[in-house]
Amino acid sequence: MEQRGRGDVPPRPAAHRRRRADPAPVRDDAQIRRRGLRALLPGVPVRDLGRQVGPRIPRRGAVRDRGRGVSPALPASLVLVGAGKMGGAMLDGWLAAGLEPARVTVIDPGLPPEAAEAWAARGVRLDPAGAGEPDAVVLAVKPQGLDAAAGAVAPLAGPGTLVVSVLAGKTIADLKGRLPRARAVVRAMPNLPASIGRGATGAVASPEVSADQRRTADALLSANGLVEWVVDEGLIDAVTAVSGSGPAYVFLLAETLAEAGVAAGLPPETAARLARQTVAGAGELLGRSAAEAAELRRNVTSPGGTTAAALGVLMAGDGLAPLMREAVAAAQRRARELAG
Ligand SMILES: NC(=O)c1ccc[n+]([C@@H]2O[C@H](COP(=O)([O-])OP(=O)(O)OC[C@H]3O[C@@H](n4cnc5c(N)ncnc54)[C@H](OP(=O)(O)O)[C@@H]3O)[C@@H](O)[C@H]2O)c1
Repeated sequence: MEQRGRGDVPPRPAAHRRRRADPAPVRDDAQIRRRGLRALLPGVPVRDLGRQVGPRIPRRGAVRDRGRGVSPALPASLVLVGAGKMGGAMLDGWLAAGLEPARVTVIDPGLPPEAAEAWAARGVRLDPAGAGEPDAVVLAVKPQGLDAAAGAVAPLAGPGTLVVSVLAGKTIADLKGRLPRARAVVRAMPNLPASIGRGATGAVASPEVSADQRRTADALLSANGLVEWVVDEGLIDAVTAVSGSGPAYVFLLAETLAEAGVAAGLPPETAARLARQTVAGAGELLGRSAAEAAELRRNVTSPGGTTAAALGVLMAGDGLAPLMREAVAAAQRRARELAG
């Protein structure tokens, strides 16, 4: 298959209009790539898109946002209950956001010794004795582990403690039922990209959550990406159906695009690599651009061209939109059933 080298990126159409007296510009590869993208996506800021090369997933413990100021809203004392995939990723995000490790106590009896050692080496406390009644308790055990965890958490969560839960399907009433002294509860639904600081979290606060506590919850949740607050707890099922389950829909898109590529004659490995990078690259472009998804789509769709032909199928009356509505509604129904 023909591969285009960096030098094959077409020049910006307006380049010939440069005044003759201008000094010859010195351009690096990234600048050349950015120019090609500007030609493709007029009016869309494409800052540093030329640096989108290679894997961007930070290693655990990497500082994700150097230079980001420490949020004054981060709590003075925090207990994290459950430091598995989601709890561990959140803790990583808080430390990267500047939360002092000594302010955090982790309660997780199942923590593998190497993980416990690694957190302790970073200055995180692992002994709940002396944790007192912290400013915030974050619950990140499996939903079915809530009852078992509640025994240890209930004495810590007092009337002045902010409780933040990411437990799928556990309502604010469920949480208050297990933590009888707690008043201020935030129920949040993060998603998998939170593990690389690119999450999308929906959150709802109980009426007792003060303005300061809400800022604290926002600072804790936004250390791992975007946070959207909803006012009605019932909407958390919709959040679950859109962003909670959403990464799986995008992974399916990559799978089915690869399958379609094979059907079109590409070798399976080539189709898989092209589909994967297309989904990852388009997602990155969408994430870095100020433009709406529809505008980006229109910018790459020439009338009568190949993309328009494909979109004619995907955007037909029985195309992707009704299917996506049905899929999201099914996830929302299931979230309601699971929450009881
Ligand atoms: N992962 C995601 O993408 C995602 C997305 C949205 C929401 N969530 C929510 O996040 C929560 C955690 O999910 P996860 O994927 O991070 O699960 P996980 O990797 O299994 O982490 C849960 C951790 O809690 C520990 N734990 C169990 N019982 C405990 C107790 N009584 N006290 C303290 N710690 C205890 C577990 O230890 P053991 O392994 O020894 O049991 C484990 O380390 C779930 O409620 C889930 O609904 C996760």
